[in-house]
Order: sequence, then C-alpha cells, then structure tokens
Amino acid sequence: KNIVILISGGGSNMRAIVEYVAQFGWQEAGLARIAAVVSNEPNAAGLAFAAEKNIPTRILNHREFTSRESFDAALQNVVDEFSPDLVVLAGFMRILTSKFVVHYEGRMLNIHPSILPNFKGLHTHQAALESGVKVHGATVHFVTSELDNGAYVMQSCVPVLADDTVETLAARVLRTEHLIYPKVIDWWVNGQLMWQNGQAVVKNGEQ
Ligand code: GRF
Repeated sequence: KNIVILISGGGSNMRAIVEYVAQFGWQEAGLARIAAVVSNEPNAAGLAFAAEKNIPTRILNHREFTSRESFDAALQNVVDEFSPDLVVLAGFMRILTSKFVVHYEGRMLNIHPSILPNFKGLHTHQAALESGVKVHGATVHFVTSELDNGAYVMQSCVPVLADDTVETLAARVLRTEHLIYPKVIDWWVNGQLMWQNGQAVVKNGEQ
C-alpha cells in the first residue's frame, strides 16, 4: 500500500507515522510504505526529516496559484503521481475543495486537535481553555466535504489542568496524536479499518 502524507509545518505527526512504519517493518514486509511527503509550505520543517529518511518530497506552494481550485488540481496531480492507496493529512493547513475530497473519498484521513464534534476549525486549544472543559484531545477521522466532520475513527483525551496555557495543552494533546494516528493507520494497513457507505468500520479483536 502506498501512503502519501500531506504536511504544512513541523510534521511531528508525519514523523511519528514514518517511525511507526519503520518500527514494524511494513516496507520490508511489503505491507505499506510512505510513498511521498507533500507540503504546501516550502519551509516546512518536516520536509528535511522526510528527505533524511529517503522519502520522496514535493513542495506545492499554494501562494503560486490564483484559486483554491487550481491549487487543488495541481495537488491532486502531485499526490496521484505516487498512486496513493491512502492520503494522510498531518497538520495540513489548507481547506480542500470538495472535488479534491471526493477524489480521495474513503481513502483520506485527517487528525484534528479536539474531541470532535467539539471545537472544529482553528485555535482549538484556545477554544477548549475558554470553554472550561475539563477534558480535551484529538480525533482521527475520514475526510469528507464537510470540514472536520467525516466519520470518526479514534479519539484521544487528556485532562485540562488549572494552570494550562495554549502551549502546555497543545503539547499534551500532540503527544496523544502521535499515538492514535499511527494506530489508526495500522488498522487500515492490516485490513481492520474500512470505509463503508460513508462510515468507518473497525473490525478487530473478538468481532
Ligand atoms: C496537530 O496538532 C494537528 O492536529 C493540527 O496541527 C498540528 C500539526 O502538528 N492540525 P505537526 O505538524 O504534525 O507537528
């Protein structure tokens, strides 16, 4: 299976996934490989890490496109060059057109830093602090045209502490993202996670 990861920044989730794939020897076993890492930000720190690991990288700067549609069309070409079975959005900070999303329907995952359906969109940690929730976390979900609303697959939760700042809370959530995102991809690679009629179906354990 070919997995293409899209990033915009630090790429710590991408790193966690790359390290997980290496740890379990998926490439050597012919199970799955990270076929490419694609960034819309030329300076994304994650690109250097991917290159170091000999993963092909591509940069597609959205500022060089006149519309969201033309950027997404070019992005689709770049991603499809690697024949992806799964597209993984890992801190990819662009809203995608529905044409793009439909093209990868059922084979594109995202991680969002909140316990959805709470706190969609940006600034989720700030929103969590302001709302006074005592538990916060992250969600891995399939991507559909509705922002942050595709079928949820796995969620993590962490406590919100009295003296938390956006930074301390974000760091606590991020550590859990690095656990749940590789795990979801593991399920998918091993045929335990499927997309059926707009729903995420997980088959493991005793079922
Ligand atoms: C993560 O919190 C992710 O959920 C959010 O942006 C952050 C990206 O972090 N969408 P990284 O680039 O994976 O380090």
